[in-house]
Amino acid sequence: MSDGVELVWSNKDLRLHASGVTGYEWVQPADKRLARPLKVDVVAEAGSRLGPFANVLAVGDALDALEGLAPAGVFDEGIRVLYIDPPFNTQKSFNQYGDSLARPMWLSMLRDRLAAAKPLLRDDASVWVHLDDSEVHRARAVMDEVFGEEAFVASVIWQKRNTRDSRAAFSSNHDTILVYAPSGPRKWKTRRNLLVKDDAVLRNRDNDPRGPWADAPFTAPGYRRAQQYSITTPSGVVVHPPRGRSWYATERTYRDLLSDDRIWFPKNGAGMPRIKLFPHQLRGLVPFTVWGNGDVGTNDDAKRHLLDLFPGVTVFDTPKPEELLERIIHIASDPGELVVDLFAGSGTTAAVAHKMRRRWVTVERNTQTVLDFTLPRLRKVIDGLDGGGITNQVSWTGGGGLALVHVAPRIGTQTGVHRAAAVRKHLHQSGFPTWSEGLATAEAV
Ligand SMILES: C[S@@+](CC[C@H](N)C(=O)[O-])C[C@H]1O[C@@H](n2cnc3c(N)ncnc32)[C@H](O)[C@@H]1O
Repeated sequence: MSDGVELVWSNKDLRLHASGVTGYEWVQPADKRLARPLKVDVVAEAGSRLGPFANVLAVGDALDALEGLAPAGVFDEGIRVLYIDPPFNTQKSFNQYGDSLARPMWLSMLRDRLAAAKPLLRDDASVWVHLDDSEVHRARAVMDEVFGEEAFVASVIWQKRNTRDSRAAFSSNHDTILVYAPSGPRKWKTRRNLLVKDDAVLRNRDNDPRGPWADAPFTAPGYRRAQQYSITTPSGVVVHPPRGRSWYATERTYRDLLSDDRIWFPKNGAGMPRIKLFPHQLRGLVPFTVWGNGDVGTNDDAKRHLLDLFPGVTVFDTPKPEELLERIIHIASDPGELVVDLFAGSGTTAAVAHKMRRRWVTVERNTQTVLDFTLPRLRKVIDGLDGGGITNQVSWTGGGGLALVHVAPRIGTQTGVHRAAAVRKHLHQSGFPTWSEGLATAEAV
């Protein structure tokens, strides 16, 4: 609670127990079912052994997976980025999952999973929670409670569609992604990556053999005596710094830059001097809080990518575009670091993390979704058979592996046992064992 302000919901003090295939049940904190040990069943180790260096696709509830995988060392190096795209609680039903929990249940569901992930985060971690207007304002209060409001970094608006819903009061075209950094925004800023400057600003207007360049005024704010001198442009015009400004450098440095062909005079050689900046000299860009569909794609782009991967299959309803995840993972992590997504769906986060050479752990509760989308998609990424999304941008050609595990409470859940068996049976029919053995052998040689 901060400043005596707190979001209150019924049963907030109770615990929520994942029950059945998709449900939850309120239980007292002392309920024995909460203390049941978790059973982690390794279904296949395809080129990645369950442990501190593994990429893991876990079938099961997100909270069970966090608790069940930790003893295997999966989170030992610490999570660098936690991105979650949980059901938004829209009160709708999608092809692959229901999205209508009672609000108190949804809030406890979110809080418990974030709280369980918190001790597994690195000092320089960030947490990205992707939602829409159904619950985002309440989720922010929950995140303030779990991480502290001083951990809030930004709420990013993503333009998820560019078509208009003419039946609605307002055509809702955006989702919100809440960004928190437990170390606080100031400290996290020193560890996050800037965006790569848009190549579109680079042009080669004078056929410079060093390649295309951007340009900036050759001036600096304020009056500095050593940077006040006259410059004669190629067309013979004598120019001085504008009032209240100085040239960008001293006359000596200017002459060096001029002889190195680093000064550009627009207007056919009559304009004020500008400095040429080559790509390695450009500082990256601080990300805006509004991300347009032109930069990071839309839900429809993501669906088209899935349709290319799985022609003729009823497409996953709510996939996110790879470009969106590429931006998040780029800002928030470096190659080799651990990216976690607790609500995998079609597997976008893991696919992008894999292509970007990060380690990843992802969890999906719906077995059918794992069998239809998450697993076959990741298999295509590993085999270099996914040419869509960010593949070209990051020059991905295939490689790596994954461990597929099933996590469920050890006793009393017939459902858990059946789900593990269903995964095995389906994998057997799909030729998965042969594929995964092939990968395991490839890794061993
Ligand atoms: C909005 S979708 C995620 C979409 C994903 N970001 C993508 O790009 O495809 C939410 C997913 O969370 C899964 N899910 C719901 N509750 C879960 C839980 N408790 N643990 C793990 N997964 C869960 C749903 O089955 C659904 O596939």
